[in-house]
Amino acid sequence: MSATIHFTIDGVEVTGKAGQTILQAASEAGIYIPRLCAHKDLTPHGSCRVCTVMVNGRPQAACTQPVSDGAIVENETAEIKELRRNLVEMLFVEGNHYCMFCEKSGNCELQALAYRLGIQAPRYPYFFPQRALDATHPDIFIDHNRCILCGRCVRASKELDGKNVFQFIGRGAHKRVGFNAPDGLGHTDAAVSDRFVSICPVGAILKKRVGYAIPVGQRLFDKRPIGSEIEARRAKGK
Ligand code: FES
Repeated sequence: MSATIHFTIDGVEVTGKAGQTILQAASEAGIYIPRLCAHKDLTPHGSCRVCTVMVNGRPQAACTQPVSDGAIVENETAEIKELRRNLVEMLFVEGNHYCMFCEKSGNCELQALAYRLGIQAPRYPYFFPQRALDATHPDIFIDHNRCILCGRCVRASKELDGKNVFQFIGRGAHKRVGFNAPDGLGHTDAAVSDRFVSICPVGAILKKRVGYAIPVGQRLFDKRPIGSEIEARRAKGK
């Protein structure tokens, strides 16, 4: 089944294929919908809600919502931008995201999204959690203080690396990414070449001994805003 589906995003006519999500069709059309837990190589998770759009007047996660004929999708309204700002601000205060001395600065999707959404400082009080750092692996460390629970590492290990290094443990405010080994990441079959290492959108999973190999100021989002590579497709008429 490869039916063509026609719908609009902010009044722009978009063509999608049956089975595609709104996020996928929008990206192909060169329209950027912010996202954190979604990644083009992973099955959608639908957990961060940063990709929320209005579909025929109702809020939906664009990364899990299939395209449908005649749908009216709103992506860039003031209301949706404010909702996304709130979500991103809450992620910042819930963890310890000290961008000024984080190795991921400039390559961090959370930081880049905050810039794109015009966030200067969160309006909520910081939690300042004290979570353990796992450095048991010889080549990788995990700082749970920076984890946003997007689950990309969990899915990447399973779907792309063919392993099963991670799982979510706990519930609610106590939910964390855990390892499928009792004594930490160093006791799993995780390898530094695994995709889960680079697919983390923030600085929670980092390689050891490569800090600041690329100077701050010369990194991905130091050069261009997040989402601009998708918007460039539209500008080129693709
Ligand atoms: Fe859609 Fe996270 S990107 S819910």
